[in-house]
Amino acid sequence: MKVAVIGLGYVGLVQAACFAKLGHIVLGIDLDVQKIASLQSGMLPFFEPGLEDVLRESVQRLSCTNSIAALEVFKPEVILICVPTPARADGSCETQFVARAIAELAVYVLEKTVVVIKSTVPPGIRKDLQYVETSGLIELASVPEFLREGKAVKDFFQPDRLVFGVQSVWAEQVLRALHKGIEAPICVMSVESAQLSKYASNAMLATRLSFMNEIANIADVVGADIEDIERVVGSDKRIGKMFLRSGAGFGGSCFPKDVLALSQAARLHGYETRIIEPIIEINADQPRRFVNKVRERLGDFSQKTIAVWGLAFNGNTDDVRESPAIKVIELLLAQGAAVQVYDPRAMKQAYAFLQDRVTYATSMQEALYGAETLLILTEWPEFMKADWNDIAHALASPYLFDGKNFLSRAQIQQAGLIYCGIGICSDVSRPLGN
Ligand code: UGA
Repeated sequence: MKVAVIGLGYVGLVQAACFAKLGHIVLGIDLDVQKIASLQSGMLPFFEPGLEDVLRESVQRLSCTNSIAALEVFKPEVILICVPTPARADGSCETQFVARAIAELAVYVLEKTVVVIKSTVPPGIRKDLQYVETSGLIELASVPEFLREGKAVKDFFQPDRLVFGVQSVWAEQVLRALHKGIEAPICVMSVESAQLSKYASNAMLATRLSFMNEIANIADVVGADIEDIERVVGSDKRIGKMFLRSGAGFGGSCFPKDVLALSQAARLHGYETRIIEPIIEINADQPRRFVNKVRERLGDFSQKTIAVWGLAFNGNTDDVRESPAIKVIELLLAQGAAVQVYDPRAMKQAYAFLQDRVTYATSMQEALYGAETLLILTEWPEFMKADWNDIAHALASPYLFDGKNFLSRAQIQQAGLIYCGIGICSDVSRPLGN
């Protein structure tokens, strides 16, 4: 099939490359001239494991351009809209880029085409866009994406499910042909249900995380251990083990934005949400609670150097948007600490937020130089394999803080360090505070 992808960000570029790997002929379109130039010279605009290989294997079937007018000659059977839907100041979803892309492409569509909105948009938006369907050439559909940054290629080829939000059996057949080769259950539904199911999935995951963070905060004050609680809760098959790990908050460009947008979309239709707001409030407070934990043990931060490993919001990505690490560092700086940072991939991206207010180390070891303690804030695999004995020698204090609750507590304690996570602390005799 011929497939056009409009918007070559994290979502669009993965879609373009992976559909080309499935055997489709793909045209990627993006306004960013530099991005297209670097893609044409084989350079990726961001780090995503496995994407470079997929692009290399599918290069014959994938081309990129800045010109939306290229659609007229290309004549795609399907167009995927993958442009950003950022948050407005009031938290609602900014849909103008989606609306503009659809208005622009409509000029060049000369044969019957399914236009799939992959960008995460509030249910109900179709009514504002339906005017493009009057010519009978365009049919709008929704195929929400569930890709995780850092695991996007795997998630594309092995999804838990595919969701087709369609208006006709014809569009469903087109989408089935597009996804041929991907083994997954297919859920066919209305466009609105598909769009709401994407928000519901992200909000459910975010709810689990904020709920477990709240329990971890309670564990901290009552002297319980969140890992024990996680084991008990997660082994109930009705609940399941995944997405229960507490930390200094969740980040990324999706959960915080989508949860707020869901609440705003409901309000627009006269429904006031009650569960959604606390998800955001708890998450916004986690970095402060984490920094308080550090201060309770180290005392005043002035004259102290603190090492931070991990700047990205998640392991295996260079994305620092809404990263808890950046929020923690801002709090440390505001309280007078000198901060030395290291991340295997996200240093350049973090510089845009932190500029020259921190010291950028070139290795994990270099970040420890002269440091009082170490805070680990991203789940990078190399951090799990660190030499804890070396770290114990390098740090002035015995404390090590794990902002993602992902490290081996036993190994760290064996090296003589005191391990502190969220809802876990191996020095339980210390005061446990807010
Ligand atoms: C999320 C969803 O998982 C995807 O299904 C969805 O497609 C995507 O948003 C989107 O809407 O585009 P993403 O934000 O890339 O994906 O990454 P996740 O792996 O979901 O992680 C989000 C945050 O939760 C990270 O900061 C991660 O560290 C944190 N997390 C995750 C925890 O704190 N604990 C956990 O147990 C799991």
